Amino acid sequence: MLRTPAATLHRLESRPHANVILAPPFFSGSFFVISFIVNGAPHASDAAPDTPLLYILRNDLELKAAKFGCGLGQCGACTVLIDGLAQRSCDVPLWSVEGKGVTTLESIAATDVGAALQRAFVTEQAAQCGYCIPGVITAAAALLEGTRQPSDAQIHEALAHSLCRCGSHVRILRAIRRAARELAA
Ligand code: FES
Ligand code: FES
Repeated sequence: MLRTPAATLHRLESRPHANVILAPPFFSGSFFVISFIVNGAPHASDAAPDTPLLYILRNDLELKAAKFGCGLGQCGACTVLIDGLAQRSCDVPLWSVEGKGVTTLESIAATDVGAALQRAFVTEQAAQCGYCIPGVITAAAALLEGTRQPSDAQIHEALAHSLCRCGSHVRILRAIRRAARELAA
């Protein structure tokens, strides 16, 4: 069900055609502006509120790291952080990120965890085609931010929604363990 955040209605009052806000939100998607933070920078979108966040990131913001895989929330290729939680952005409607912070792989190295993961993935050569890797690193970053020394079971659980068609799983696990060791040193 589409919902219209109160902050959005407030912003619309300053728009020239503000009287249209009396129309039901599901009939007036293009008149709504959703504001959120992407990689530390404010962004506003007037796309239809149910547009998948992945489309906004890739098509409007030119942030191409998050990939379109299944489009069904099942493969994890599109994973980004939303307020620090790993989320599959193909399955996240634009309206739901109002006022939230989105982090994509493009800025993940700005944190100690993200930088350690990137170094570890290079050192372990933990990719073949690389298509799944942005989602894998992002999911791993969410894990290590909350659990600096995860068990193998916790790593497996964190990557449960990240599919790798190339079979780089062993190297991916080695890389995440390496990053955890580096962060603990
Ligand atoms: S493209 Fe989003 S989970 Fe597969
Ligand atoms: S490295 Fe190719 S899908 Fe994972």
